[in-house]
Amino acid sequence: MILVIDDDIAIRTSLSLVLKRAGYEVQTVSSPAEAMTVVRETAPTLILMDMNFSLSTDGAEGLTLLKQVKIFRPQVPVILMTAWGSIQLAVEGIKAGATDFVTKPWDNLSLLQSISTAIKLSQESTATGSDEFDRCGIVGQSPQLISVLETVRRIARTDASVLITGESGTGKELIAEAIHRNSCRNNKSFVKVNLGGISQSLFESEMFGHRKGAFTGAVSDRQGRFELADKGTIFLDEIGDLDKNCQVKLLRVLQDRTYEVLGDSHQRRTDVRVVSATNANLNSMVADGTFREDLFYRINLITLHLPPLRERPDDIPLLVNHFIEKACKQNAMPIVKVDDSAINYLKGLPFTGNIRELKNLVERTLLVSDNSRLTADDFRRQYNSNQSSSDEDVQPIFEGTTLDDMERQMIVGAIARYNGNMTQVAASLGLSRGALYRRMEKYGIKQ
Ligand SMILES: Nc1ncnc2c1ncn2[C@@H]1O[C@H](COP(=O)(O)OP(=O)(O)OP(=O)(O)O)[C@@H](O)[C@H]1O
Ligand SMILES: [Mg+2]
Repeated sequence: MILVIDDDIAIRTSLSLVLKRAGYEVQTVSSPAEAMTVVRETAPTLILMDMNFSLSTDGAEGLTLLKQVKIFRPQVPVILMTAWGSIQLAVEGIKAGATDFVTKPWDNLSLLQSISTAIKLSQESTATGSDEFDRCGIVGQSPQLISVLETVRRIARTDASVLITGESGTGKELIAEAIHRNSCRNNKSFVKVNLGGISQSLFESEMFGHRKGAFTGAVSDRQGRFELADKGTIFLDEIGDLDKNCQVKLLRVLQDRTYEVLGDSHQRRTDVRVVSATNANLNSMVADGTFREDLFYRINLITLHLPPLRERPDDIPLLVNHFIEKACKQNAMPIVKVDDSAINYLKGLPFTGNIRELKNLVERTLLVSDNSRLTADDFRRQYNSNQSSSDEDVQPIFEGTTLDDMERQMIVGAIARYNGNMTQVAASLGLSRGALYRRMEKYGIKQ
């Protein structure tokens, strides 16, 4: 039985008709109080509820009802109906546990589609006895990380655009992958695009593709990233590095969901879920006019913030063990133990390069110590030797060394020194992040 909750009799009547025609049993109620009586007494297969009851225009009543429903019937899928333009409310609803939302006026076909998908998914998860959330190797138990994962679980199956923010090395890419793996698009591609590394002149060709001969140098046809990601997820990494010209081009495709391949005027449709990431503060970039506000809203229906590692020390013990186990297995070594004193020492470090820095530190320490137990001193020695290497490291210049060799060495050295924190690496070399990424691509350097 589908329970329809709406205070507008016209909507109740028409929904009831549409749903009955599609073969569902329907019950309708007009107020949150009545709704709770039904929810307590029976278990509907699905609930379709209005968020804007006449008493409160801000949707507070709808949100409270949703939360109560989720306490009584956590496994019953809820689809929200919101007035056009109240996307923020829908987002809050999704965070509070709704499965999906439709905006009024709705389109009957896509509403029925959402309903059948939601019912199918909830039946599948009941059958397997769990939500089968795939953590994709994301390790940690801090309340901050758990809350991020909880939101990922809830929003993965919607098509909502997600912006992931956080310092370098906090795990943004891993989270983006987890969203894709736990979505209905997981049998299609997850296409990563590093927007910091694409030059303005190649942007369209990279994103939309080109036909042979479209411009000098276009020696063959090339598929664009939007085409590669069709029906899957496109991950727009380093979106804060996109210049204003390219921002307009990206906005256009995200708005219209159509684009043109260079050298081919035929319009193509794209069906992609957009996940973006940045370590820049897009709010302040919007405020100072360097990032378009309309693009910001397009990519940012849901924001996930990954706090720096130093603010979630509870994740350190699990992460350390995880990286040790992985490295030991890779090198066919017996698993090394870690002293409590070592964990306490690590919990006090600033980790400006976050989890990437912790991972590097653990791997280096493991490599140089031949004990079967790692102590605080082992980690301290490695940590300090890496810190002090930042001042010297001037490479001797030999005859026959090319400028390219030197550039390459300097980049590799700086990446090691700053533990892959690309903002710091770029700053230390006097380059923009974009220029740095282009050089890394040129020399085939991986982060
Ligand atoms: N919670 C975690 N559990 C296990 N490994 C993690 C976790 N978070 C991050 N890592 C690892 O740390 C490294 C950095 O993570 P990732 O590349 O996702 O960070 P990022 O936020 O995208 O960084 P950047 O802004 O520099 O691109 C990767 O090797 C990743 O596998
Ligand atoms: Mg990243």
